[in-house]
Amino acid sequence: MHIIAVGAGPSGLCLALLLGKAGIKTTLLDTGSTIDDRPRAAHYAPSAIRVLRAAGVLEDVRRLGFLPGNMTWRKIDGTPIASIKDTAETRGPEGLTVLPLNLLGKVLLDHAEKNTNITIKWNHNVVGVGQDDTSAWAIVRAEDGTETKYSGDYLSGCDGANSQVRKSLFGESFPGKTWDAQIVATNVYYPLDKLGLDEINNIIHPTDYYMAAKITRDGLWRVSYGEDPNLSHAEVVAHQPAKFARMLPGNPKPEDYKLTNVGPYRIHQRCADKMTVGRITLAADAAHLCNPFGGMGLTGGLVDVGDLADCLVGIDQGLAEPQILEKYCEIRRQKWRDVIDPISSGNFIRVSATDPERAREVDPFLEMVKKMETDAVLRKEFDDSVYDICHDFKQYYKGAQRVTANELKL
Ligand SMILES: Cc1cc2nc3c(=O)[nH]c(=O)nc-3n(C[C@H](O)[C@H](O)[C@H](O)COP(=O)(O)OP(=O)(O)OC[C@H]3O[C@@H](n4cnc5c(N)ncnc54)[C@H](O)[C@@H]3O)c2cc1C
Ligand SMILES: *[C@@H]1O[C@H](CO)[C@@H](O)[C@H](O)[C@H]1NC(C)=O
Ligand SMILES: *[C@@H]1O[C@H](CO)[C@@H](O)[C@H](O)[C@H]1NC(C)=O
Ligand SMILES: *[C@@H]1O[C@H](CO)[C@@H](O)[C@H](O)[C@H]1NC(C)=O
Repeated sequence: MHIIAVGAGPSGLCLALLLGKAGIKTTLLDTGSTIDDRPRAAHYAPSAIRVLRAAGVLEDVRRLGFLPGNMTWRKIDGTPIASIKDTAETRGPEGLTVLPLNLLGKVLLDHAEKNTNITIKWNHNVVGVGQDDTSAWAIVRAEDGTETKYSGDYLSGCDGANSQVRKSLFGESFPGKTWDAQIVATNVYYPLDKLGLDEINNIIHPTDYYMAAKITRDGLWRVSYGEDPNLSHAEVVAHQPAKFARMLPGNPKPEDYKLTNVGPYRIHQRCADKMTVGRITLAADAAHLCNPFGGMGLTGGLVDVGDLADCLVGIDQGLAEPQILEKYCEIRRQKWRDVIDPISSGNFIRVSATDPERAREVDPFLEMVKKMETDAVLRKEFDDSVYDICHDFKQYYKGAQRVTANELKL
């Protein structure tokens, strides 16, 4: 079997590694000249760690990254409201792991470049897709206007938020909403741990809400804060020192820290109407978006590609009918709607629109987190619930005990 994957971002590379191990050849087409290294994801939940392990990269991810300690919700003066303790004792084998996306991308790329079943074509801008009864293809347009067709048995759109594959299938339709907010993601060297913060902090405040997390072992922090959506990029950059001075512990002036990145983002909750159309599938940001509070974006994307790989490997090995891809569409969209969207929306509302003085009274989640500090049973339930976005697609393989013809609607 031969798969065309559009996009050599984290989701496309991870899909190719999972397929490559099973002997399926993947050609990745990416419009960039190398991996995108803007500051984006850094935290991957246990459900995603499981997929990174299956792809054979977890050892390298853990060698370069680290397992963070307590995650704490606080008032802007630093007072803790509730905290999830994460220590060697509480953590399962797939504990939440921190590694900035540019470094995760490098690990995935190194592994993919060594895998003879994977071909990566940079500077390949996909402008359209198509399919017939036996194949699916991407059309790549070169700068001089010449077009080349890349054909495989199936095609997967892993081409991010502005996915051309999604647009080729559905036009501009990408149902959901854009928040009336602007988030500024900064990377900064400033020892917030010495100023009383844990390795992950969510600061609840009506205007100066932020997330501060240590993202590298050498002390780089990600500080993502809310900003007036009406400010331009230049105005956001100009306003950043005043924001830091008023919201961060120690009220730092620019000479007190070393800023390495400032990136304003609009934030969205969106999910495509379908993630499968015949032989063409969508995965990760190409299929759905969520705001970055709580780190559900790529986590959900990696779980997608883990499931998609199980479906394609099943088809390749004659263990599943091609209709298993309809199940992929149904289940992954349902998981986004019922788990990812409510959790990530809840996380954003928690920090940006909750009265910090009454946070535990008005927010049942924070009240539960507080109880979990001393209630081991509740804590265990919470730890198990982080796998709620997962689904076992091998149950639909032929001969699997639990599969019924009805379930697969064959
Ligand atoms: C500030 C911020 C913080 C975040 N934090 C977290 C976090 O902590 N945890 C988490 O899980 N998620 C987080 N996310 C979300 C996460 O970064 C994204 O979900 C993730 O990058 C999506 O990966 P992807 O592979 O789907 O798409 P991308 O990373 O966008 O990769 C898409 C690839 O497709 C290529 N491409 C695009 N169009 C074409 C085309 N027409 N032809 C060929 N190639 C094309 C691009 O060049 C790119 O290489 C965060 C996002 C932001 C903005
Ligand atoms: C590539 O696929 C073949 C089967 O075609 C398999 O034997 C081999 O292990 C795969 N290579 C890698 C590096 O995973
Ligand atoms: C986590 O919080 C506990 C107190 O609740 C504290 O003793 C411990 O040092 C904290 N750990 C980290 C890594 O911040
Ligand atoms: C941004 O501008 C719009 C339109 O002018 C206005 O309705 C909205 O309230 C403004 N938002 C903020 C946070 O000032």
